[in-house]
Amino acid sequence: KETKDQLIIDAGQKHFGATMCKSCGMIYAASNPEDELQHVQHHHRFVEGIKYTGWKKERVVAEFWDGKIVLVLPRDPSYAIRKVEDVQELVDNELGFQQVVPKYPNKTKTLLFISDEKKVVGCLIAEPIKQAFRVMSEPTGPETPSSKECQRAWQCSDVPEPAVCGISRIWVFRLKRRKRIARRLVDTLRNCFMFGCFLSTNEIAFSDPTPDGKLFATKYCNT
Ligand code: ACO
Ligand code: ZN
Repeated sequence: KETKDQLIIDAGQKHFGATMCKSCGMIYAASNPEDELQHVQHHHRFVEGIKYTGWKKERVVAEFWDGKIVLVLPRDPSYAIRKVEDVQELVDNELGFQQVVPKYPNKTKTLLFISDEKKVVGCLIAEPIKQAFRVMSEPTGPETPSSKECQRAWQCSDVPEPAVCGISRIWVFRLKRRKRIARRLVDTLRNCFMFGCFLSTNEIAFSDPTPDGKLFATKYCNT
């Protein structure tokens, strides 16, 4: 069990109100009880993962030797929606998104990858879109020394292309990465996003990808 000492990193920083936890990466104000509580909760989820004990009515859309994928839709029972919100909160904290009030727009489709240890180890949140802008391939070579510093400023084409499905979040529990969980989530999404068709990779778009997300998306869409 961790002690409080491990959670508070630099007392000096407290003057500025922000502390970053070395293990879970969350930035929070240790002097603020509400922030502190939020951190303890995120820290625990980050280390332990989110449990999934099974639902009476669950929509299993794919099964694998190491787990299964469950689809959650906006009108599902509140226990299902709450689980998705918990996962989204963990993902958003990890991606450094500002705390947003969880909401579940009525066209969202969420896939959860449940491991055999009954934990949520992957999550994909998708919604219908009409168009997307293609990310241009980055110039490579020795002339671009600054490409590391602006890792998130991808060049986008300014010509919109038709698309059907936008992936607003894709995330895999850190200890389960590189086991093709993200790939299986996207494959399953393409199959169940629109009834009766299998979406092509041109019809799906990743919104504002992180470096990890871009590496994955590039690889996924080329294979
Ligand atoms: N570096 C290089 N290549 C990668 C990486 C990486 N970090 N991640 C995936 N790939 C490529 C590889 O070629 C991989 O195949 P290989 O392992 O056989 O070489 C292929 O993509 C398939 O990878 P998966 O195993 O299916 O991907 P994984 O399950 O590890 O999940 C993900 C990838 C979701 C990006 C994960 O790293 C993650 O959760 N990262 C943190 C959260 C994040 O940044 N999410 C993306 C945000 S952008 C958005 O949500 C729209
Ligand atoms: Zn922490």
